[in-house]
Amino acid sequence: MNGSISSVSLHGQSNIVRRLEGKVAIITGGASGFGESTARLFLQNGAKVIIADVQDKLGQSLCQELKHSTGNQDVTYVHCDVTSDSDVKNLVDVAMSEYGKLDIMYNNAGIPGNLDFTISDADNENFKRVFDVNVYGGFLGAKYAAKVMIPARSGVILFTSSLASVCCGESPHSYTVSKHAIVGLTKNLCVELGQYGIRVNCISPCAVATPLLRNATGLEKSAVEDIICASATLKGVVPTSEDVAEAALYLCSDAGKFVSGVNHIIDGGYSITNQSYITILKSLAP
Ligand SMILES: NC(=O)c1ccc[n+]([C@@H]2O[C@H](COP(=O)([O-])OP(=O)(O)OC[C@H]3O[C@@H](n4cnc5c(N)ncnc54)[C@H](O)[C@@H]3O)[C@@H](O)[C@H]2O)c1
Repeated sequence: MNGSISSVSLHGQSNIVRRLEGKVAIITGGASGFGESTARLFLQNGAKVIIADVQDKLGQSLCQELKHSTGNQDVTYVHCDVTSDSDVKNLVDVAMSEYGKLDIMYNNAGIPGNLDFTISDADNENFKRVFDVNVYGGFLGAKYAAKVMIPARSGVILFTSSLASVCCGESPHSYTVSKHAIVGLTKNLCVELGQYGIRVNCISPCAVATPLLRNATGLEKSAVEDIICASATLKGVVPTSEDVAEAALYLCSDAGKFVSGVNHIIDGGYSITNQSYITILKSLAP
């Protein structure tokens, strides 16, 4: 049985659950935001984690902090620009040379690109750059992970897509299309790789006040969270990076062992409703 199981002792004390004991995980974009929270949660659950990013100083200092705070020393930082074939190949090579296997490949690195909402004025180079990081980067991660997972006949490939994959008009075209592409890649890979016991899923979070969104909006964390909460369907909860990390843990552990091909949406029900009509109707009522 892979991973450990939660249990409650006869004395009623709950044992610590380590759902990724011994698993080897790569997390791209692991130095910040969702990647950082996921690295922390994976380490707490017994995984050996390789953080891959282009923010070298941040990634290296995070590794030191995580060793200290989680007590798990099995965390390393590797410089990897996900748009570089040789960097991504090297990343997977590091996992194989250090640990002899790769169980989890979380392709999470992404950029918002310019906040460029109009097609007629859209910047072509921005479109290509967003695709390069968000789509080609994920494609390379999946490719090199699959090369080592197929012979092992097991593994989990996870991507970070976005609410923009199901809810249109709230993000720039380049970003929306790139995140739709990730869902397509997830599903195509799920079909191809299922025969080898490899599961492939993606997570689609709503807006969360990570550095990405704070930088894109130019607003403080609290101001971003106020906007998110004011527009939320589910009230009384502020979405955080930890919510994404918990979903990643579920999808990458044995708890999700029969889950594949899923776009796992984390939005408190935001995307299932459109209240424009009823709001106008109510406003017209005498
Ligand atoms: N924050 C949100 O509201 C939100 C919502 C939905 C989806 N997402 C997606 O979540 C993912 C993580 O974003 P986040 O919010 O944690 O942002 P973040 O900026 O905090 O973290 C993203 C990380 O990716 C890294 N990165 C960027 N380009 C890279 C490259 N070429 N190679 C390697 N690493 C690179 C950055 O250095 C950064 O550390 C992204 O794919 C993003 O599109 C974010």
